[in-house]
Amino acid sequence: MSKTVLVAGGAGYIGSHICIELLDADFKIIVVDNLSNSDKKSLERVTQISGKQFEFYQIDLRDEGALNDVFINHKIDAVIHLAGLKAVGESCEQPLMYYQNNINASLVLFELMQKHGVTDLVFSSSATVYGDPATVPIDENFPLTATNPYGRTKLMIEEMLKDIAAATSFNVVLLRYFNPAGAHESGLIGEDPNGIPNNLLPYVSQVAIGKRDKVSVFGGDYATPDGTGVRDYIHVVDLAKGHVKALQTMKQPKDNKGVCKVYNLGTGQGYSVLEAISAFEQACGHEIAYEIVDRRPGDIAECYAEPTLANQELGWQAEKSISDMMKDAWRWQTQNPNGYQDD
Ligand code: NAD
Ligand code: UD1
Repeated sequence: MSKTVLVAGGAGYIGSHICIELLDADFKIIVVDNLSNSDKKSLERVTQISGKQFEFYQIDLRDEGALNDVFINHKIDAVIHLAGLKAVGESCEQPLMYYQNNINASLVLFELMQKHGVTDLVFSSSATVYGDPATVPIDENFPLTATNPYGRTKLMIEEMLKDIAAATSFNVVLLRYFNPAGAHESGLIGEDPNGIPNNLLPYVSQVAIGKRDKVSVFGGDYATPDGTGVRDYIHVVDLAKGHVKALQTMKQPKDNKGVCKVYNLGTGQGYSVLEAISAFEQACGHEIAYEIVDRRPGDIAECYAEPTLANQELGWQAEKSISDMMKDAWRWQTQNPNGYQDD
């Protein structure tokens, strides 16, 4: 019988792509999201792409009563927890909002899972927990640290889950994402940032379509081949597939003790800012204006994954190239110049 997965934060950029991969793999899904950084239309598009219906509850995870009702009304087998605020700069300006939202939402969710006997959990973590790594590629045993309140919420939730798994029968997978990019190949769902994008690729995409003048390249004097920052961009559909693999390979230990596994989800390959801009130029067919400016405070020179463990234990590896990411991002951008507001 197919398993039912509660996708918390499932209306967002990564969550909507996960919903499609879960439905394609014959999981049943229930989505919970407060829509604080997403649009319900993403879920209508998930139905359009997958041809499958599912329940959606517009609920803040911190609303314990409403979330409890979801657990009462559905037999949930596993949870994917993506719900949270994610803007690093904003987290430095409003740390309390980040701790309140990310930590409290997680606590309420984990307590209700325990209350209703749901122990299988996949949590969206981030490569930000490696801080400024001493070397690259980064493997899962590298030292952990946080350089901003957003990162600290990820680290705190990871630590909480390790403690919970050690003391209960919780079966946890922490997935540390590198730099998600691209969109579904249908062009129907993708990243729809509010206001000025913080991240490189949505910004490049908006320059490419003429909404912004030029890309500011933050720093041209890093110790990298072309002086600009190097990152491990991973196609959001590959990332989504990693979650399906995590659920499919999840096994409760025989003694019914809890377990907490950790995997990097990245390609293992780094691209510089200039290489990423050039790959986008290939996809959109014209030049993209840029200017090299000062480094962004808090940025690091290089960050890319050692992704072997996920391959060995989950049977997962990224399949799509940087060119696929850019082509799919451009298709999404051109088909929906104003994101979900175009509907
Ligand atoms: P997103 O903002 O598009 O999705 C997060 C979703 O969670 C949104 O739909 C938002 O409305 C919802 N949400 C936030 N707080 C909530 C709450 N209290 N109750 C219910 N819903 C709530 O972001 P995304 O890029 O899809 O990221 C998903 C997860 O992956 C986040 O936890 C993020 O920190 C993590 N992550 C993202 C990246 C990235 O670059 N996009 C990288 C590493 C990790
Ligand atoms: C950001 C987050 C990090 C998160 C990661 C994955 C910050 C400081 N860090 O990291 O916590 O885990 O996303 O989503 O926000 N760049 C430009 N011009 C731009 C934007 C970015 O040159 O307008 C450069 C950056 O300096 C960096 C690269 O592009 O070298 C990627 O930047 P970005 O997309 O913001 O991701 P990260 O900095 O890796």
